[in-house]
Amino acid sequence: MSITRADAERLDREDPLAGLRDRFAVPEGIIYLDGNSLGPPPIAVAEALSGFAADWRADMIQGWATGGWGALVSRIGGRIAPLIGAAPDEVIVTDTTSTNLFKLMVAACRMRPGRSTVLIEAANFPSDLYIAQGVCELLGLTLGYLDEGAVIGEDTALVVHSHVDFRSGHIADMTGLTRRAHEAGALMLWDLCHSAGAIPVDLSAAGADFAVGCSYKYLNGGPGAPAYAFVARGLQEQVRSPITGWGGQANRFAMSRDFDPAPGMTRLQVSQAPVIGMVSLEAALTAFDGIDLVELRRKAVALGVLFAKLTAERLPELTLVSPADPRARGNQLGYAHPKAERILADVAGLGVIGDFRPPEMMRFGFAPLYIRHVDVYDAVERLATVMAD
Ligand SMILES: Cc1ncc(COP(=O)(O)O)c(C=O)c1O
Repeated sequence: MSITRADAERLDREDPLAGLRDRFAVPEGIIYLDGNSLGPPPIAVAEALSGFAADWRADMIQGWATGGWGALVSRIGGRIAPLIGAAPDEVIVTDTTSTNLFKLMVAACRMRPGRSTVLIEAANFPSDLYIAQGVCELLGLTLGYLDEGAVIGEDTALVVHSHVDFRSGHIADMTGLTRRAHEAGALMLWDLCHSAGAIPVDLSAAGADFAVGCSYKYLNGGPGAPAYAFVARGLQEQVRSPITGWGGQANRFAMSRDFDPAPGMTRLQVSQAPVIGMVSLEAALTAFDGIDLVELRRKAVALGVLFAKLTAERLPELTLVSPADPRARGNQLGYAHPKAERILADVAGLGVIGDFRPPEMMRFGFAPLYIRHVDVYDAVERLATVMAD
């Protein structure tokens, strides 16, 4: 028997996480299925930013000391840590995902001298590929593609992989791949952009060496919000960042001539922290306060299953390109259709926001903090209206 709107409303009434939507400012009438690209603003963000504007005015240069601006990089790192299975001193918020990839890839390759190869998936996010290509060119290494037949071996210095694939949403076997890299003596770097805040992540249990991620998708930090980097505690003192800015200097304000890396994760900082983005991110992370990530994932799976079921019933012309098993995919579903771009534009006119990935894929994200079952139902209805045209 097919699901009705009344069924979806009942699921919302029974949903123990339903109240979390009140932590967000989702515009009325909009069904926002693009939180996997850019999260909407949590309500706490506007208040934090206006408070910051007042503090800046009042404190000016003193704010670095009195406002704790300088400590934000590690303080927010400590807030992200439990979302990714890390200890607070293993995470720093700094730079962008791509810059952090560059710093960690170079550092990792230099920790494996004599090994000639970096491995990545060709299906990884383009910026990961471009950075890997640049790093290999810089260091005179060879780049191999795991999904094009490259195999982890004794010449492998580093393996780079996305935890959740940005197109299909497929979840990689973090523990298994990390073990394979380590068995060959290689280091392992995970990109968490599409998994942190969406699915439970446990870098420590997997024995991961390095990780990077952005904060503007499921963490809702805001457009261009700063990214983060993770280095397992036991490796931190071996890490040498190739970008030796004063942010990573041991005693920055001594203004000494020679670079001396700061202890711990601070050595990966390059510059002064972009405080406005940090303030936004810190406030945004309060949307996760008191939440059990397993419970959050349970709801996200239920939303995705509902969307997949309704779509299979009502829109059989859309081809699911994400794994059919909900346990094997993150909080997003991808569908192929030759007119994907046009369909997305038309359904956006009806208030349903998804996104397009060339050549013919539509992607819909189900962020359980603010998406309701009834949103899923209405989104499929509106897609059906567009497709009937
Ligand atoms: C998986 C993945 N890696 C890297 C990036 C690049 O992020 P940034 O713009 O912070 O460098 C993105 C951006 O969307 C991404 O989705």
